[in-house]
Amino acid sequence: MTPSDEEALTELIEMARTAARQSYSPYSGFRVGAALRLANGEIVTGTNVENVSYGLTICAERAALVTAVARFGPTIRVTAAAIANLNNASSPPCGACRQVLAEFIDPDAPVAFPSAAGMRIMTFSEIMPLAFEMKIK
Ligand code: THU
Repeated sequence: MTPSDEEALTELIEMARTAARQSYSPYSGFRVGAALRLANGEIVTGTNVENVSYGLTICAERAALVTAVARFGPTIRVTAAAIANLNNASSPPCGACRQVLAEFIDPDAPVAFPSAAGMRIMTFSEIMPLAFEMKIK
């Protein structure tokens, strides 16, 4: 990664942190934010929105993604993603969010997330090596 790539990712992480401040998380108290850089140059953020049913909770990453499609349409491509939380905890994107991101993100896109060892940056294909895809013969 070039220094300017790193700077761009740092900005994305900051935006994810800012988004986490909007979290609706009365059940877990876990405040998550996600920021996606799009190929069109825009940045879209999202936060987790919990529900009393628990199961209907929407993660920050998926909230950001559906917002990106709603704002810029079905042809969006995600070129980088950052996740942050305000709980000083590890929070790699969950499996469901990885599968949903797989639809729109470049395999080489960097994904920055808080891990037990601090902020980690991995490519999307490293964190999601075998996403489901439907190949009908
Ligand atoms: N959460 C996210 O926002 N993203 C993830 O990838 C995993 C978990 C949220 C859902 C719930 O509101 C809280 O974190 C605790 O699981």
